[in-house]
Amino acid sequence: MEQPLIRVKNIKKIYNPGENEVRALDGVSLDIHPGEFVAIVGHSGSGKSTLMNMLGCLDVPTSGKYYLHGQDVSELEDNQLSEIRNKELGFIFQGFNLISNLDARGNVELPLIYRRLDKASRRKLAEEALRKVGLGERMNHKPSEMSGGQQQRVAIARAIAARPPVILADEPTGNLDSKSSEDIMKILMALSRSGRTVIIITHDDDIAKQVKRVIRIKDGKIEKDYLNENGQSELGEREE
Ligand SMILES: Nc1ncnc2c1ncn2[C@@H]1O[C@H](COP(=O)(O)OP(=O)(O)OP(=O)(O)O)[C@@H](O)[C@H]1O
Ligand SMILES: [Mg+2]
Repeated sequence: MEQPLIRVKNIKKIYNPGENEVRALDGVSLDIHPGEFVAIVGHSGSGKSTLMNMLGCLDVPTSGKYYLHGQDVSELEDNQLSEIRNKELGFIFQGFNLISNLDARGNVELPLIYRRLDKASRRKLAEEALRKVGLGERMNHKPSEMSGGQQQRVAIARAIAARPPVILADEPTGNLDSKSSEDIMKILMALSRSGRTVIIITHDDDIAKQVKRVIRIKDGKIEKDYLNENGQSELGEREE
């Protein structure tokens, strides 16, 4: 068996230890293999974003282990974590987090600075990513000049421009109409088919149904971890 890309072992995240403690994650273990397409679902407050922050190396667990590509990242220092984030991970945040006075191209180029690429290479990767999400004609538009669905696509382009192996998205279709949601899912599925590992958080059952593997979180624990017959992923479509 291939080594898992992500291996989480008995992770706990406890806020305010003591009387008023919140067990945001209470003993979560899971493996995710390269090329999997995974949806994390659960009620508000169940621990989804906390789990995403751990997987995305934005935060470290109170206890437990996290191995990314076999490397123990659960006890790394901030600067080591940010190095890993830059190399391995692409984030799509809810609410886009675009910079309003930069156009689409500028928004996608910006994080590439941390990859120590020169300006011409940054521009090339940014334009390639924007074309991939269907915004080749909107590169000079600022966020205020684009629809919500288009802004979300800029956020996706920004996440994928550096070609990270893992893409993490917190409610990528939240607040979008059904046509825009469909477009976003098509882009994520294409990324999954191209071998990227895609992990999304969603409240939307219709979205979760389209994804091959669903992990349901309740009270900081995994309640269910199952495969959808009709869901898509690189693994699911590779019939052998
Ligand atoms: N910094 C913090 N300090 C204390 N408690 C926190 C903190 N961050 C999150 N929590 C608590 O941890 C629990 C899990 O929060 P989390 O943000 O992971 O939920 P979620 O599943 O993403 O919810 P939603 O669907 O509303 O986004 C919640 O009870 C929340 O109040
Ligand atoms: Mg959340």
